[in-house]
Amino acid sequence: MAKKKAWGGRFADGTDRFVEEFTASIPFDILLYRQDIAGSIAHARMLGRRKILPRAEADRIVAALNGILQEIESGKLSFDLSQEDIHMAVEQRLTRKVGKIGGKLHTGRSRNDQVALDLRLYLRGEIDGILTLLDKVGERILARAEECYGVVMPGYTHMQRAQPVLFSHHLLAYHEMFSRDRDRFREARRRANVSPLGAGALAGTTFPLDRESVAEELGMDGVCENSIDAVSDRDFAADFLYACAVTMMHLSRLSEEMVYWSSTEFGFLSLPDALCTGSSIMPQKKNPDVAELIRGKTGRAYGNLVSLLTVMKGLPLAYNRDMQEDKEPVFDSARTVKECLVGAALLIEGMAVDEERMRAACDDGFLTATDLADYLARKGVPFRKAHEITGRIVRYCEGNGKRLKDLSLKELRSFHPGIGEEVRDAISLSHSVRLRNTRGGTGPEAVRRRLEELKKR
Ligand code: ARG
Repeated sequence: MAKKKAWGGRFADGTDRFVEEFTASIPFDILLYRQDIAGSIAHARMLGRRKILPRAEADRIVAALNGILQEIESGKLSFDLSQEDIHMAVEQRLTRKVGKIGGKLHTGRSRNDQVALDLRLYLRGEIDGILTLLDKVGERILARAEECYGVVMPGYTHMQRAQPVLFSHHLLAYHEMFSRDRDRFREARRRANVSPLGAGALAGTTFPLDRESVAEELGMDGVCENSIDAVSDRDFAADFLYACAVTMMHLSRLSEEMVYWSSTEFGFLSLPDALCTGSSIMPQKKNPDVAELIRGKTGRAYGNLVSLLTVMKGLPLAYNRDMQEDKEPVFDSARTVKECLVGAALLIEGMAVDEERMRAACDDGFLTATDLADYLARKGVPFRKAHEITGRIVRYCEGNGKRLKDLSLKELRSFHPGIGEEVRDAISLSHSVRLRNTRGGTGPEAVRRRLEELKKR
């Protein structure tokens, strides 16, 4: 039969072996040991300050908790399923070390506020790590945008060549996405960094706890205002999972572009050997697996968000054991986002850009057709009309296997008599890019301005 439980008082019989395994969270919430011990230390200190426990007892508990932290950190302590979860495991070890007074640590506390605290502290730490990695990715993007400044590539809509853009401008689009991701993580951190301790099981506690000082000691910005909400709320975890999902969406789009840009068909860039793998049968293959896996792992980040939202949707207040299912999605998304940010930084840093291929790709596909229409519009032709005339010119080119720049002035004039020699310049690639200097545009001056702004941040 299983060992005696901390809550075993009202039970006549032991727990079924299957139930013990089925309900245990220690195999995964062991990850929370640092947060759990930090929360317990802050709680014990406060119990001492408030004379809810004799000072000396509180001090012994704190010292023993510090010892347990070291035991776990050095791999000297292992836990088993009968201990249920990290909270019980730490408390049991504490009681082994200090005897009966270990049982006083849980005064004025419940696992329900304890687990909410642990997860909040854990997320705070993970978010700080993710923010650092997001910064790294941002820096790499800026460095490459600076280095490739002036390189022209086709911009696409519907995956059809649309208008020429600076490659730097395209890269900086990702920078904008990742800086919004930063904002989302910072917001998630702000929401997570509030202490639920003192909520007890759900109704608050009969002991004169000093909730604020515990929060302060843990570096939190405040305390949860409603004890029922404090133990029922997992919005903060959903915020985190949403921030992860959106970041993964951005990483996935970047990865997708790297996959096809590095294909033989595009050849816009090549990825370093160190970041690719080969095929077991086709000797010529060099596959962009890192980019593909980042794209692929986006699925689990989305799944984790939906998973938590679904766990929570039908739960009556306050704590229900269903909520134990919050942890694995959160742990998985945190790990996934971190490793994918590391991979993305390597890809951005390692890619070799083929300037010639990019420019050559701008030659076909009538990329400056909009510029021709704009040219006519500047001559006073209403834009709609200019659009139609240009459309007919493109059709003519297609029928005759010509590019816009292959047309003679005579041919062009046959579509509109106002077209003059200066049209050559108007439909040139460099001119097309150069003119788009409105704020946020791809013109070299606009891109330079934004690049400098971002570098200053
Ligand atoms: N292992 C539990 C969880 O992760 C801790 C809280 C358990 N509380 C309870 N009343 N059973 O949610």
